[in-house]
Amino acid sequence: MYEQVSHSLLNDILNQIRPEISEQDLRHFYTRLGANFYAIHSLFVKLYGDRDDFDLQALRLVETMAQQYIKRPETLRQLDLEREKDYNWFLNQKWVGMALYCNGFAGDLPGLQSRLSYFQELGINLVHVMPIMLCPEGSSDGGYAVSDFRELDPQVGTLDDLQALSEEMQQRDLLLVLDVVVNHTSNSHYWAQQARAGDTTYQDYYYTFENRNVPDMFEQSMPEVFPETSPGNFTWDEEMGRWVMTVFNDYQWDLNYSNPAVFIEMLNIILFWANRGADILRLDAVAFLWKKIGSTCQNEREAHLLLQLLKDCCQVTAPGVLFIAEAIVAPVEVIKYFGEDAVIAKECEIAYNATFMALMWDAVATKNARLLNQGIKNLPVKLERATWLNYIRCHDDIGLGFDDRDILLSDYEPTSHRKFLIDYFTGQFGDSHARGLPFGQNDKTGDARISGSLASLVGLEYALETEDDRGVDDAIKLILLLHGMIMSFGGIPLLYYGDALGTLNDDSFRDDPQKQGDTRWVHRPAIDWEKAARRNTSGTVEYKIFSALKKMISVRKEVHVFADFNNRELISVENPHLFVFGRYHLNNHHEQVLVVANFDSKPQYLNLQDLGPWAPQYGKLIDLYSGECPDTFKKSLVIPGFGFYWLSGS
Ligand code: GLC
Ligand code: GLC
Repeated sequence: MYEQVSHSLLNDILNQIRPEISEQDLRHFYTRLGANFYAIHSLFVKLYGDRDDFDLQALRLVETMAQQYIKRPETLRQLDLEREKDYNWFLNQKWVGMALYCNGFAGDLPGLQSRLSYFQELGINLVHVMPIMLCPEGSSDGGYAVSDFRELDPQVGTLDDLQALSEEMQQRDLLLVLDVVVNHTSNSHYWAQQARAGDTTYQDYYYTFENRNVPDMFEQSMPEVFPETSPGNFTWDEEMGRWVMTVFNDYQWDLNYSNPAVFIEMLNIILFWANRGADILRLDAVAFLWKKIGSTCQNEREAHLLLQLLKDCCQVTAPGVLFIAEAIVAPVEVIKYFGEDAVIAKECEIAYNATFMALMWDAVATKNARLLNQGIKNLPVKLERATWLNYIRCHDDIGLGFDDRDILLSDYEPTSHRKFLIDYFTGQFGDSHARGLPFGQNDKTGDARISGSLASLVGLEYALETEDDRGVDDAIKLILLLHGMIMSFGGIPLLYYGDALGTLNDDSFRDDPQKQGDTRWVHRPAIDWEKAARRNTSGTVEYKIFSALKKMISVRKEVHVFADFNNRELISVENPHLFVFGRYHLNNHHEQVLVVANFDSKPQYLNLQDLGPWAPQYGKLIDLYSGECPDTFKKSLVIPGFGFYWLSGS
């Protein structure tokens, strides 16, 4: 869009820009800058327009984009052009991801590179390497307390190792996802050290206060993220002699985005990693970016404006790079992280589907899909050209962030239902064989979350220990059922490393003083590759899970209606144990797949007449996953205990 005020500023900026920038061939850069500048300018005015140095900051912003464009390697620029042309590329059902800790998965980056064939063996083509940037030993929050955003943890490798990895991944058509921890830094980051030493320029990078007045004001409305290990949202820094805002751990200082210098630094860092070959960047804790007195300091309007601005700027320099929003918040809030509009107010192309994840765990515990159906019914429709990351487990805890109204509509009482879930997954309820651990218990609010590996949460650990073959079978069925859901729901399935091998809880964190306070370490394992080799020996647990997932992935890639074009319809059926939805082709209504999942341990039936227009009209039904015809009796379809189908008419 052409608008005089912004255009005149752009002309001024381009006139002032340093010669090394203006002499380069910046054709594509200028086209994109011209297209996005009105939006960039408007957002920058909304956020920082009242500052005296606004024009100077706007100049810095454009310079940052231009400098990083100049540094962008030619191969990546080509990739940008290809992706601009094929702009729906990431919605394709061919993508299947895995998230992993580099050290736990393969020791270091060269180790990871040597294991790339493992991904291809399974069918994974998107690899999220969790944070590998420099962090202080011990106070690292698993890589999310960064002390230098441009250096790697030397134990993991060098920037050259990363370069080699990303080049080989590109050759193998594997996407690389890296983290940028945008909300906070470690207290040993250079900026924090300068702030501590009394430099007010850097104190202004954070929220620091002389006394408790403002912090106490904030505390009245802010929840606590880590109530056990890091209660409160502020930490006294002795050296600085000031309170500093620390929403997560006390060593993670929240960045002050009302300072444009912070925004520009972070944009620069994002573009730095984009230029290192990351195809996708995961932006950590984005819900927390803007702090406002009297609010929870989550999901504030300005947090969205910041993300829109980051997206608009990144599109100018590296348009092929996508963002993942890590916003583990209520459904009505999470969809806002895709943006308000696919063109003029775009934020992140991808977001974690924590709602679906938590709802599936509810179905596992209750053995019925009441809340799952209710919750998905109320999941707001997302934008076009936006997609979910569907996952079962990740490196974080499982939060029970359901909407209380949905719990009530499912005939449960919210407080006691949440308590039941915690008890169930920590193995305290009835005959539950789950081996989860509580996380984030808050005695003031009664809240708690759950840690634990997928296999241990579904009872595999218990069943193996007690040599209960039936229990082992059931646990495997549940592992496959849950994967069957994330593969077909719509979005990119993101497996968690270890899960395809049935990896159990890792209790070694209890012996490490730096980890024992944080139960999330129980599900951040080191892969035992000798044990993993059993995936090739028929009859083993590893084989049963791995070979089934491998097949599931390869089938998913062939099912066109599994691509994510908001082409899903939830189908309500009478049997409460079942979760049923249809996937269809937008232009060809004959092409459709009916997904039916049974969360009960016993077989359940689906009355085919319940299905309305989704009922098979003629011919036989075939399950695309197994290639077999499911059992039916008259007008009833029978789904085995913990079974699922991907049904198509034949
Ligand atoms: C994100 C990460 C989590 C971390 C937190 C603070 O939620 O996933 O592991 O503790 O941010 O950085
Ligand atoms: C994340 C989420 C929270 C999660 C935590 C990490 O940002 O908001 O739900 O538990 O940080 O564990």
